[in-house]
Parts: sequence; structure tokens; C-alpha cells
Amino acid sequence: MKIISVSDKNEMSKKAAQIILELIKEKPNAVLGLATGGTPEGTYKELVADHQKNETSYCQIHTVNLDEYVGINPEDPNSYHSYMESHFFKYIDLPKDQRFLPDGKNTSVEACVHYDNLIESLGGVDLQLLGIGRNGHIGFNEPGTPLTMGTHVVQLTESTRKANARFFGSLSEVPEQAITMGIGTILKSKKIVLIASGEEKAEAMNRMLHFSVPDDCFPASALVQHPDVTVIADEAALSLI
Ligand code: GLP
Repeated sequence: MKIISVSDKNEMSKKAAQIILELIKEKPNAVLGLATGGTPEGTYKELVADHQKNETSYCQIHTVNLDEYVGINPEDPNSYHSYMESHFFKYIDLPKDQRFLPDGKNTSVEACVHYDNLIESLGGVDLQLLGIGRNGHIGFNEPGTPLTMGTHVVQLTESTRKANARFFGSLSEVPEQAITMGIGTILKSKKIVLIASGEEKAEAMNRMLHFSVPDDCFPASALVQHPDVTVIADEAALSLI
């Protein structure tokens, strides 16, 4: 695991965007695994600024997102479909039929298997961008998720729902379930870039970086098994290391 320590969120976003742009330059038809949440917002801003300035093209890129809330319409402003549209997709030249997110309205086993098959049919994820939850979740893989699972439906923990309530009107509006790539799916990515910012992530970062054995009580610890993980974290997130 390579750890890049940066001064603040801004630097974290720039560094993550730089790594993504290097990949696109090298492989203009790359498959990007994308994440949502507060942490990657700055990375998308950097990529949009680069697209406007340097005309980096996404016309051959495919994107697959980690997760979506269950029961929510893609058009709902709180859906991850809407998040991706408003933070990234509407600004770039990525064709609509090359963007994929799990379908929060179809959570059948077949739909989950279909998502994993789709990723495989694209040739697998070249670079997966990840955030980390305070309880160590990646995607929406909550503690206790077997580390080999593919895409599946999860029951969100109270702590995750509370952490994400800031994006909704109130806690009661936060869906109770989500559909997420499994840890098994995530570990198949060729490269993983995990970004973290702020002291509220310090405990999770400490735990992830000091785990030498994967433990399903702390999902991010599964990343130690992966041969190409880059962690980009600011001083606050690394303050307990
Ligand atoms: C959310 C997302 C994760 C994200 C994490 C941290 O629930 N499903 O993909 O990494 O929680 O979110 P944030 O970046 O807002 O702290």
C-alpha cells in the first residue's frame, strides 16, 4: 500500500485527479470505478477544470459506480445517479451509454450478478476511486460483509445513515438499504486509489493502515490483500498514525 500524505483536502483532490488523468492519457479507453460522498467532490472539480482547460476527452472511457441507494429513482436529487450527473457527467464528453451505476430500483440477485458481469465484460476496472466510511466501510460494504462478495444489497448501519443524513432533509429520509459492489468486486480492480480527508476519518485510517490481516469487521482492511493501492490522505486524516 502506497501512502501519499498531503496537507489538505484540496491537495488530496488534485493528487487523485492527477493519477486519474495519467491513466486516461496512457489508456484513453480505460474503465474508471467511481465513488460518491463528500470526499471525491473536489477530485471531480479538478477533472472538470482539466477537461475545460486541456480538453481531456472521455469519449472512449467507461465508468462504473460503486453503489446506489435502494428504492430511490435515478432522477431523485439524492440518488448517486444525480450526484454523478451534477458533479461530473454533465461537464464532460462521456457518452451516456458508457456510464453505469447500480440500479436502486432493481435489487434482484440477477441484477446484482448482471452488474458484476457488466464490469467483467468491459474488461474490469482499471482504476477504482474509493472513499472510506468512519466505520471502515468501502462502497457501502458495512462491517461484517464477507470480503469475497460480489455486488449485493446491504442494510445500512445507523452510523452510516447518520453520516449521510447531511445530504438529505433528515435522518428518516436516508434509505435503509443500498446496492453496492462487493469487496470481492472492488478487489478485482487493477488499481485502487483511496482518498480520505479530515479528522473524522483519522480513526478509520489508523485502523486500516495498522491492520496486517483482513478482517470483515473492518471492510477497508481487505485492501491490504490488493497489490496496487494508493492512499491519498491529508494530515488530519493521518493524525492518529
Ligand atoms: C458513503 C459512500 C462511500 C463513501 C463513504 C464516505 O456512504 N457510499 O462510497 O466513501 O460513505 O463518505 P464521505 O466521503 O461523504 O465521507
